[in-house]
Amino acid sequence: MIEYDWRPEQAIKSLNRILPEVEKTFANKLGQAPNEWHQFKNRLHREWERLFICLHQLYGWQYDFFYTLQRLLYTLVQYWLKRPAELKLLDEKREADPLWFLSEKVVGGVLYVDLFSDNLAKLDDHISYFKKLGLNYLHLMPLFAVPKGDNDGGYAVSDYRAINPDIGTMEELSKLAAALRDEGISLVLDFVFNHTSDEHIWAQKAKSGNPDFMAYYYTYPNRELPDQFQKYLREIFPAVRKGSFSWCEEMKRWVWTTFNSFQWDLNYTNPEVFRAMAEEMLFLANQGVEVLRLDAVAFIWKRLGTNCENQPEAHTIIRAFNAMAKIVAPSLLFKSEAIVHPDDVIQYIHPDECQLSYNPLLMSLLWEALATRETKLLEYSMRHRYPIPAGCTWVNFIRCHDDIGWTFDDQDARNVGIDPAAHRKFLNKFYTGDYPGSFSKGVPFQFNADNGDVRISGTFSSLAGLEDAILKQDDELIQRAVRRINLLRSIIVSIGGIPLLYIGDEWGMLNDYTYLTDPTIVNDSRWVHRSRKRWNAREDLTDQDTLEWRFFHEMVKLFDLRKKLPALQNGGMEVIHTGNHHLFGYIRMFSDQKILIVNNFAEEPQKMDADHLNACGIKGDVVNLINHDVLSSGKDLVLSGHQSVWLDIS
Ligand code: GLC
Repeated sequence: MIEYDWRPEQAIKSLNRILPEVEKTFANKLGQAPNEWHQFKNRLHREWERLFICLHQLYGWQYDFFYTLQRLLYTLVQYWLKRPAELKLLDEKREADPLWFLSEKVVGGVLYVDLFSDNLAKLDDHISYFKKLGLNYLHLMPLFAVPKGDNDGGYAVSDYRAINPDIGTMEELSKLAAALRDEGISLVLDFVFNHTSDEHIWAQKAKSGNPDFMAYYYTYPNRELPDQFQKYLREIFPAVRKGSFSWCEEMKRWVWTTFNSFQWDLNYTNPEVFRAMAEEMLFLANQGVEVLRLDAVAFIWKRLGTNCENQPEAHTIIRAFNAMAKIVAPSLLFKSEAIVHPDDVIQYIHPDECQLSYNPLLMSLLWEALATRETKLLEYSMRHRYPIPAGCTWVNFIRCHDDIGWTFDDQDARNVGIDPAAHRKFLNKFYTGDYPGSFSKGVPFQFNADNGDVRISGTFSSLAGLEDAILKQDDELIQRAVRRINLLRSIIVSIGGIPLLYIGDEWGMLNDYTYLTDPTIVNDSRWVHRSRKRWNAREDLTDQDTLEWRFFHEMVKLFDLRKKLPALQNGGMEVIHTGNHHLFGYIRMFSDQKILIVNNFAEEPQKMDADHLNACGIKGDVVNLINHDVLSSGKDLVLSGHQSVWLDIS
């Protein structure tokens, strides 16, 4: 028997009860813009049922659920009223072209403002640099007010509405957002919504014993519940401290702290927390932020007896935020940061949840294939794990501000004859340079003495062998490192999704060991790839002899080429059989354009034979779009060491 679903009817009933009150409260303001209000109401009616159902799942059991609905509707209208006119225009533009971010023209970059340009005011001067690179998506790493000293690189936020004074002001941020928008660059910021810093006003009030604010966090009078939870929890920063709970002397209670002891997990079972964070989200949207990177999504709901990651309610919370954004700021997109098992990563990707997602699996398997020179795990995993729901896209990266973890699926590995545990050990040894023949200068991150787990820090270039080659002053090794770098770049630019450049990598930034002298971050090796080192691009752009210039120039060339090829817009990506376990190939297709991309992970030349090429539908002579070489009909394709070819087989 199909159970009667009463929720749609109740959703509209509640809306019809609350809306007239809201209209009365804001009558003056709404009367001034009747057409806009009409548009808003259309969106509200479109999304309300979805929002109601999510909220009911989360909070419907609480006696004051109607009050929660009421409060949220007021929030929606208040933040819509505050939304600047130019952003409302942007909303209209995006609503007319909602899938703009799937375009082959979209190319991203990410940077730390303080490391890159000291502060927000000076970042303005670098817009021309971003344009030269071809970026139109710019992610600024967390720049909010944070505790002094260690603040997990900005991920311990003390105030979502204040910028770290060393970096600038909120006014400067919205000005910058507008300046970027004028240049066709979308601003991306983090939404650190799993936790606040212990200096956030909510945490301070909790510390002073205010029960309303103690209920913003998970706090416990003794170890009874923490111990029960802890049995199943993963330790995220085991080298820094044990366990996921920290003692708060002021409250004389244990607090849930998944990451560092100064990062207090928010308690989303409390509808007030949901509402308060929804307000922070809409506030950021109203500053001109177009994409929010949802930080640490996996951890936002806890359930006893589970590892408290990827709980169904985590998805419901994000979907509810998504519905609220679609009502107030429909141009806002979400990007998920779920560095978890690939089966779980994919669960966050949906037009009603996160339209964008980091692709941690591709990232780690590119490094895996670079070490082994073999593509079987990469090929096998990508064949069945690349597809995601329509209207969504991967964000493909080689390096970011975080470490590398080997998050491939164990069974995928076994299916291609790899022992997953031994392989992870090998990869860790290889990338920390502790394996014969390794070219890499990675640094271990968060060694867990209990189980031997470790992750890897290091810049793209240092991990790919450039640092080692330069130290050895060996030109041949330098050329090899350059080829490795170009190979991985070529893949993230062509494989489907938004390529995301970690700024510094465009000119080949190497590891920076100065963090070892700073006691606040000495235990966090991720700072080895968060460097203040700069390359003064504007001057050096004319100096074509440097390695930096060549890296930069190659990057620009590749982005330019991507932007000319509609086949590279997000859509299908078909992994092909190359018949050679050193090669990784795929076809990108759109309308009548078809491009075959083949990548060689070996140092030596490798061949894809004519039969395998024919099976990809090659007819006649074809051109390699990267260097304009022609491959004659019926011939084998020979790739030099680490070469990547883009064959136009339309
Ligand atoms: C995310 C960030 C990482 C941070 C953590 C806690 O994973 O990328 O840098 O340490 O969240 O906020």
